[in-house]
Amino acid sequence: MKVTPTSNSRISDIDFSNLQFGRIFSDHMLEMTYKDGTWSEPDIKPYGPITVEPSLHALHYGQAIFEGMKAYYAGPGTINLFRLDDHHERLNNSAKRLCMPELSSDNFIRGLEELIKLDHQWVPKTFGHALYLRPFMFASEHYIAAKASSEYKFFIITSPVAAYYSEGFNPVKLTTSEKFVRAVRGGTGEAKAAGNYAGSFLPARDARENGFTQVLWLDALEQKYVEEVGTMNIFFLIDDKLVTPKLAGTVLPGITRRSVTALAKEWGTDVEERRISIDEIFEAHNNGSLKEVFGAGTAAVISPVGLIHHKGETITLNQNEIGPFAKKMFDRLTGIQYGKTEDTFDWTHPVHVGNEITV
Ligand SMILES: Cc1ncc(COP(=O)(O)O)c(C=O)c1O
Repeated sequence: MKVTPTSNSRISDIDFSNLQFGRIFSDHMLEMTYKDGTWSEPDIKPYGPITVEPSLHALHYGQAIFEGMKAYYAGPGTINLFRLDDHHERLNNSAKRLCMPELSSDNFIRGLEELIKLDHQWVPKTFGHALYLRPFMFASEHYIAAKASSEYKFFIITSPVAAYYSEGFNPVKLTTSEKFVRAVRGGTGEAKAAGNYAGSFLPARDARENGFTQVLWLDALEQKYVEEVGTMNIFFLIDDKLVTPKLAGTVLPGITRRSVTALAKEWGTDVEERRISIDEIFEAHNNGSLKEVFGAGTAAVISPVGLIHHKGETITLNQNEIGPFAKKMFDRLTGIQYGKTEDTFDWTHPVHVGNEITV
């Protein structure tokens, strides 16, 4: 691996008390190039512009995928990465679906470790804050033909982010969409493909204009079964059972979702991964068995849902607070990520960076 440290760090210009998600990037990035059937060695260098031509394949045909992870400050000298193997596996699954080359686990893991070592001062120390890690791959051939590119670029860039809940838990308001769907079986819904997000922006804007936070996606065929939310998987606590839509090709297999189901099982909670209709949710609310609803994802961690709107009807829950189950889940999950509670699952991957972290 080639490493070229910057001679001009930007860190002293950054106001770590006022971080906006995804706007500030740390000093270094990792770059790899795929050409003639093989990946180059990772090249870590100062973050900066890249040169492309207007004929860049990804801009025309959307062969682009990404991952979203976080590095957590776990006390002096330790930065925790979380479930690296799962993120690597999902990246490769997305690559396969989009007809792109897979990446070795060694390059992914060692690349992230080296990047963190170099930019460890960019990992915010405050609990709840983190260094967001964005690995991504795109078709880099300069060729406008509707077939898979033969060249690709892989990058990892990183961005310090504040706690999602700097002003307390703020339950989200969800609405289903009668007009749009996110994914259909056989499509790209279970891949972390850039185009999935492009298609969701218009429905998300419509939802916001109507006073909701995000869209609660229903299945594309019958518009009846709940799937997921913008960048979160969804969970329902019905009586004392935790229910979440099963992964059947249209839902993104969230790493947080996997962690939540494992933790719930550890506590002895029954977990059901199955089809769940929006009507069942409304019925459970009406008969008093729907105790809590929450979303789970890397960015939002555990996010309480305060309201669901569907075809003119609305149900409300825990409107101004987080429910006790979701709070317990938030505490246990972040406890593991920030190294405050024992990681009985071996999910964290500590990177040791020396004692001096000054941010
Ligand atoms: C569509 C979608 N669903 C669910 C999730 C949650 O996945 P994870 O827990 O791996 O962040 C994300 C975020 O990556 C997402 O973009």
